[in-house]
Amino acid sequence: MVIKKIPPLEGKKKPRIYQPETEPKTGTAANRAAGQQNNEDLDCLLSELNSLIGMSKVKGLVREIKDYISIQQQRRAIGLMAEPLVLHMIFKGNPGTGKTTVARILGKAFASMGLLSKGHLTEVERADLVGEYIGHTALKTREMIKKSIGGILFIDEAYSLARGGEKDFGKEAIDTLVKAMEDHKEDLILILAGYRGEMEAFLRSNPGLRSRFPIHMEFPDYKIEELVEIAVLLTKNREYILTFGAKEKIREILYRDADRGDLAMGNARYIRNLVEGAMRKQAVRLAKEKNITKKALMTLEGQDILEALEK
Ligand SMILES: Nc1ncnc2c1ncn2[C@@H]1O[C@H](COP(=O)(O)OP(=O)(O)OP(=O)(O)O)[C@@H](O)[C@H]1O
Ligand SMILES: [Mg+2]
Repeated sequence: MVIKKIPPLEGKKKPRIYQPETEPKTGTAANRAAGQQNNEDLDCLLSELNSLIGMSKVKGLVREIKDYISIQQQRRAIGLMAEPLVLHMIFKGNPGTGKTTVARILGKAFASMGLLSKGHLTEVERADLVGEYIGHTALKTREMIKKSIGGILFIDEAYSLARGGEKDFGKEAIDTLVKAMEDHKEDLILILAGYRGEMEAFLRSNPGLRSRFPIHMEFPDYKIEELVEIAVLLTKNREYILTFGAKEKIREILYRDADRGDLAMGNARYIRNLVEGAMRKQAVRLAKEKNITKKALMTLEGQDILEALEK
């Protein structure tokens, strides 16, 4: 069973803007420094991307774009035509499969490659774009587009824009977005995200739309062993260690969920919540002790995982 999120009707969440850590620099010497800095940033981002579990297609795409840019630069240097890249994308996948995580890294990586001027990610949903009266939607949508120029505009549950059919203001939002994709294609990437089935239906209902998105990316549900690896990665990134027993507990829990048919529930987010819950349980377990060792401070045990599950 896959638990589906109900598309929210009105804005509960505020649009989220993730800023990259480094601002673009200007001036010749500064440009050189910025160039070097950008390469370092890019290496750093690529290793962040590569450290994600699975995602071979996304990793392949980024390598492809990086090579393409380098070849275009060489073509331009000897006077050959160099085509600009259109990088609008569709992300299809269940909750917790890493769509937002990837979009955030892509924004920063594309900025280091010089494809975007800022690389920030503006994450919005239907309520941030669709208004309540005629004209309101175009205004709201344009406002979000303005905020996202230089980076990525990421629309979660994008199919909900087509929910109400012809008379719905969602259509006005789509039309405004389509215009912006064209007008700002040099410095704005639009990513529409949502469940695979719904996104397919959405694209079928807007025949002109599919061809405007040259990149379609599938985010499959994680397999059990990938989820265990994600648990190891998430703990390592936070300077914790899972004991053999803790890893086995996570594996057991996941096999049990799979038997019940609800493994896809929450995907990597489920693992993150479980690991974070275990960190709190470890804290409660340790707080009673005196002279706690570094090893103990870092270790999550099977018991912490079990207690986190029972919470
Ligand atoms: N491949 C991965 N490797 C490591 N961690 C991951 C991976 N995929 C997702 N995560 C972690 O899982 C959590 C959820 O991921 P994310 O928010 O990107 O999912 P999502 O697909 O955007 O979900 P939703 O559709 O619910 O917004 C994040 O904390 C992220 O760091
Ligand atoms: Mg998300």
